[in-house]
Amino acid sequence: MDLSRFPRAALARLPTPIEPLARLSAHLGGPRLWVKRDDLTGLGLGGNKLRKLEFLLGEARAQGADTVLTVGALQSNHARQTAAACARLGLDCELVLRQSSHASEAYLGNGNVLLDRLFGARLHLLQAEQSREEAMAARAGALRAAGRRPYCIPVGGSCGLGNLGYAACAGEILAQARELSLRFTAVVVATGSGGTQGGLLAGMARKRGMPVIGIAVEGTRAEQAALAVEQAAETLRLLGAESRPAVVAAEVLDDFVGPGYARPTGEMREALRLAARFEGLVLDPVYTGKAFAGLMALARSSRFTRDDALLFVHTGGQPGLFGYPEAV
Ligand SMILES: Cc1ncc(COP(=O)(O)O)c(C=O)c1O
Repeated sequence: MDLSRFPRAALARLPTPIEPLARLSAHLGGPRLWVKRDDLTGLGLGGNKLRKLEFLLGEARAQGADTVLTVGALQSNHARQTAAACARLGLDCELVLRQSSHASEAYLGNGNVLLDRLFGARLHLLQAEQSREEAMAARAGALRAAGRRPYCIPVGGSCGLGNLGYAACAGEILAQARELSLRFTAVVVATGSGGTQGGLLAGMARKRGMPVIGIAVEGTRAEQAALAVEQAAETLRLLGAESRPAVVAAEVLDDFVGPGYARPTGEMREALRLAARFEGLVLDPVYTGKAFAGLMALARSSRFTRDDALLFVHTGGQPGLFGYPEAV
């Protein structure tokens, strides 16, 4: 995939490794499980958003921006990676973060939010009912009026441009699978704002790659699938008309959300425990823990056999463990 016409900031350590989960696969007794270590993208403790930020901050720099704004939850991994990337690139960073009613000391001051401050970001804290997007637009207006050049990034970095990072990741996965002489039956990934799954779907669609199953961490199956398809379509539009297949459907499972976004579940706790004890692999309670619970349920189901291989994309988020220690 030729992405050379898009300005890009080198932020992520790529390609990330693909590793077997041999002991856990044997324990579960179903398909072989593998993990794509996008938690190891490096900068600022890593995670999936760096792939998106390479393109978003590439554009910000090309436009001569001096301040980058984005939005998220108080313990947003996306916000933390944006803050780290801005520090690396010498850009000012302002984060509009919404507090949930979840207000433990750790949630308010540890994990991602501790790192945001360490990276030198300026934080604007909102109450749950305020619109983050409106607050970000207002702050960008004020900065512009003061002669600054703000660049706004949507929630999760999910938009056609950001998702190019995951369209490229699809190509990376296909190349690594060839090298390993493996054919993954499906890719499994956490889905929230939809750009990671959407980008992967777009990249796979262009190469007749493998199915990408999203495990929702919020919303319903129908809402999250519509979001992923919309994100995939935006990505493909940006990639241009040449050989542009449509992504008409996205598979999303919503059985692992539990009572809501960032609210712990028993399956999530089991996933964290088994990944840690069988593989020394650290998941987070908000995204990868719930997604891995979905992966384990798929592995235990009759849908896949021992001849199948499933690839879990580990999207990072481990600082969240320290923001929600009681979830573990
Ligand atoms: C650790 C982690 N995994 C997965 C996701 C979901 O990615 P997306 O918002 O692109 O659906 C996020 C987004 O914040 C995340 O922080």
